[in-house]
Amino acid sequence: MSTVQMDKQALADQVEKMRPWHHDIEINEEFSTGEVFSPTKTLIPAKNEGVSLISPRQRFLKRLDSLYPDSLAGKRYLDCACNAGAYCFMARERGAEKVVGFDVRDHWIKQAKFVQQHRTLAPTDRIEFHALDLYDLPSRDFGKFDLTYFSGIFYHLPDPITGLKIAADLTEDIIVVNTAMRRDENNPSGMTMAIESDTQVMSGVHEMSWYPNGPECIHNLLSWMGFAEMKLTLDITKEGYTNQRIELIAAREKGRLKNLAGEYFSKKF
Ligand SMILES: C[S@@+](CC[C@H](N)C(=O)[O-])C[C@H]1O[C@@H](n2cnc3c(N)ncnc32)[C@H](O)[C@@H]1O
Repeated sequence: MSTVQMDKQALADQVEKMRPWHHDIEINEEFSTGEVFSPTKTLIPAKNEGVSLISPRQRFLKRLDSLYPDSLAGKRYLDCACNAGAYCFMARERGAEKVVGFDVRDHWIKQAKFVQQHRTLAPTDRIEFHALDLYDLPSRDFGKFDLTYFSGIFYHLPDPITGLKIAADLTEDIIVVNTAMRRDENNPSGMTMAIESDTQVMSGVHEMSWYPNGPECIHNLLSWMGFAEMKLTLDITKEGYTNQRIELIAAREKGRLKNLAGEYFSKKF
């Protein structure tokens, strides 16, 4: 796809029309999607149809650099529930050979394609975006991937075990699972059922969903799916479920994560 040049005001007008945005994405040196709503990038969700705004570029690039210190050249990157595609653009920025991002909502995929058309900060070729439900992924032939990102989707699924396995089965090297959690010390490897809106743009589309009760749940699932080692790279556990979040990074091969910051996680329950 060739890049379309627009001046800053024209870009801002388009971005405003396509709100709400969850991903603040740098389009060029002087403009990013989040600035339209919040020059300080600390957006109040109430001013963005209840959607939070995140600026993940620095953290994510650092993460890619520690997992693939020689760049992502020759690597394939899959993003499940890619939203406006921020992570896909950064994977390409670090040289990924092939990037596939999908999300169940057209709203987000339209944003991703808009950014793809206008981003000049890094190449946007070799990236595909699809409006697709995770459960329909096996019916498409996108091939296998080296790195899979499974962020913010586990707890929006009526059957997260099947959902995670679909992504895991396509992953040959590393999977990152970042999820909200509802800690239950009495049953940390279990899950807690929830019912969610199927129309809110950040939620799932199946109404029923499940939260892991602890990192043990995700660990045991990924271990069963054939990942040899894992690190817990985030564990935010505060009172009130909205602040409980974990991230596990799992590798097919033992020793693969030795240079990644964070503790190995190997609890079994
Ligand atoms: C909390 S956001 C996470 C966005 C992004 N992955 C991130 O970490 O910034 C949840 C996203 O999951 C998408 N989603 C929910 N259920 C899905 C499904 N069954 N298949 C694909 N995407 C889904 C939503 O449309 C939304 O973009």
